[in-house]
Amino acid sequence: MRVFISGFGNIGRGFFESLLIKDAYLKKRYEDLVTIVGIVDSKSYEVNDGEYKICGFCTLGNKNNTGKLHTDRNGLSCTEIMDMVDFDLLIEASPTNITDGGEGLVNIRHALKKGKDVITVNKGPLALAYSELDALAKENGCYLRFEGSVGGGMPMINMCNEALVGQKINSIQGIFNGTCNLILSRMDSGIPFEQALREAQQLGYAETDPTYDIKGIDSACKVAILANSVFKKDVKFSDVSVTGIDTVTPEAVEMAAEKGMVIRHIGEISKDKLEVAPRLIPKNHPLSVPGSLNKAQVITDMAGPITVSGRGAGKSETASAMLSDLIWIMDRRTA
Ligand SMILES: NC(=O)c1ccc[n+]([C@@H]2O[C@H](COP(=O)([O-])OP(=O)(O)OC[C@H]3O[C@@H](n4cnc5c(N)ncnc54)[C@H](OP(=O)(O)O)[C@@H]3O)[C@@H](O)[C@H]2O)c1
Repeated sequence: MRVFISGFGNIGRGFFESLLIKDAYLKKRYEDLVTIVGIVDSKSYEVNDGEYKICGFCTLGNKNNTGKLHTDRNGLSCTEIMDMVDFDLLIEASPTNITDGGEGLVNIRHALKKGKDVITVNKGPLALAYSELDALAKENGCYLRFEGSVGGGMPMINMCNEALVGQKINSIQGIFNGTCNLILSRMDSGIPFEQALREAQQLGYAETDPTYDIKGIDSACKVAILANSVFKKDVKFSDVSVTGIDTVTPEAVEMAAEKGMVIRHIGEISKDKLEVAPRLIPKNHPLSVPGSLNKAQVITDMAGPITVSGRGAGKSETASAMLSDLIWIMDRRTA
């Protein structure tokens, strides 16, 4: 399995490291080796058209690597770099762009049109053009997998589509952004939004520009992805009704507490609803959780409510989802 990685930051590197950690497991499970034949980030790239084991081809800028490092892309697009090598699988881990999908969307289209499988954690392309990409994958006989795009280490998409196959899923409600939950749970103890946000930034949870999180954009992308992939709707990010948590006041939190409730930022997908908004949740409800975890409740026709929880972000957590997609693909490609 020859792998090309687009985006080599936290998550791209996390995936790479997971291959090193699971090297023995992968070698035992498959005769085929996983080899990295190309890596690209915003400024530089590395390509390797030889047959190298993963350990032989390391990281961008690593002086021990055996690939050819180019410290300047010289105006080359990712797709031009992709075309320099033969690969079987694209890992798309470049930044999420919710305006036009950015280079990530172009990369995924390009790979699928070439008949290559894709694993993406980049939410933008899926939240903007899911049905087009799904159709492209089918037309070209490729697999498009994206477990890590919703909830990082919390199993969600593949759980609904594979573990719960045959069941009717009536709704999914969940906390899909750990930063928002951390801020809201700090507000439970009486501190105002701005202070809770500052604390989340100091702890490294919220970005310097926290807009994607606090305005609900990140959660809305995940709602759109679940609506398309689990509920088989044909929606875009813009179809989701979104209210951020920056509208939540200490007075609203206090009034909620007086009624035995908390305010949580809930994404919901059901037959008639596609929404992300702050909601009143009874204190004893499964979604009334403190801290930065993600949590979701799936309501099924036969098994009733199923609740899952896990770390919604993080290098190793997200890599675990990507690894499960890799193994799913390799089981089929090497059978
Ligand atoms: N962080 C998480 O826990 C998490 C969880 C689930 C999903 N995701 C998604 O995973 C993706 C990556 O997140 P991250 O945390 O790894 O971000 P990150 O640390 O900022 O890394 C982004 C990487 O993409 C590269 N890049 C920027 N523009 C590019 C382009 N046009 N083409 C190719 N590469 C480009 C960057 O290169 P430079 O270093 O040169 O700028 C960097 O290597 C995002 O789409 C994010 O939404 C993240």
